[in-house]
Amino acid sequence: MRRPIIAGNWKMNMTVSEAVALVRQLKALVASVRDIDIIVAPTFTVLQAVSRELEGSNIEMAAQDVFWESSGPYTGEISPIMLKDVGCRYVIIGHSERRQYFGEANESVQKKIRASLAMKLYPIVCVGEALEEREAGKTSDVVKIQVIQCLEGFSRQEMEKITIAYEPIWAIGTGKTATPQQAEEVHAFIREQLGHITHRQVSQGVRIQYGGSVNPDNISDLMLQPNIDGALVGGASLKADSFSSIVKFKKA
Ligand code: 13P
Repeated sequence: MRRPIIAGNWKMNMTVSEAVALVRQLKALVASVRDIDIIVAPTFTVLQAVSRELEGSNIEMAAQDVFWESSGPYTGEISPIMLKDVGCRYVIIGHSERRQYFGEANESVQKKIRASLAMKLYPIVCVGEALEEREAGKTSDVVKIQVIQCLEGFSRQEMEKITIAYEPIWAIGTGKTATPQQAEEVHAFIREQLGHITHRQVSQGVRIQYGGSVNPDNISDLMLQPNIDGALVGGASLKADSFSSIVKFKKA
């Protein structure tokens, strides 16, 4: 009942010509895929070129961050209306790299979600624990606080437009994927927490992606888990062949 959603987070990679070359290859490789939401999240500077390239394709575009004001004296920031204007349908909010290096906090994540929804941008909200937190047995506590502080207070209609990405920080860029069981356990827990802050029925419809060293070899087992509805892919999304294999996980 939840349509799979697979997104490639390009992070700080790709010039315009590299980005255009990548989406050209990718478009051709996934053109036949109909039952999956496919998303690429390029850097701000290549959004426009990628958007043009994606016109008429089955691939949607996300930004990697957003600011909550719509315009004004906020040097270096980008607003929801600007992202909409350039063709974004989704926006990643609260990625652990933004939390770790740029002071992103649950409070600002909540503001960014609200501003994005007001512009009809679909937020992909990231949560996940650090290695020390997992080793100290605090995964549930950390994820619960993130889910509640980022997502409490949204209406049923708003909640239906939100995707969550569970990305254990220790699995990002390390080649150390969470096992399907480890990931499923947290995904089920996140869904349970959602049930406390929104209608139970809505929580059943929210899609939860897994992120952290997803590759063509581990995607199928992850997707077999009942509460894993997609993937947020970093490194493996920078090559058309690996990302398209992940998108086509069913045939793998
Ligand atoms: P990797 O797939 O490179 O581990 O990155 C995951 C990620 O952070 C996606 O947002």
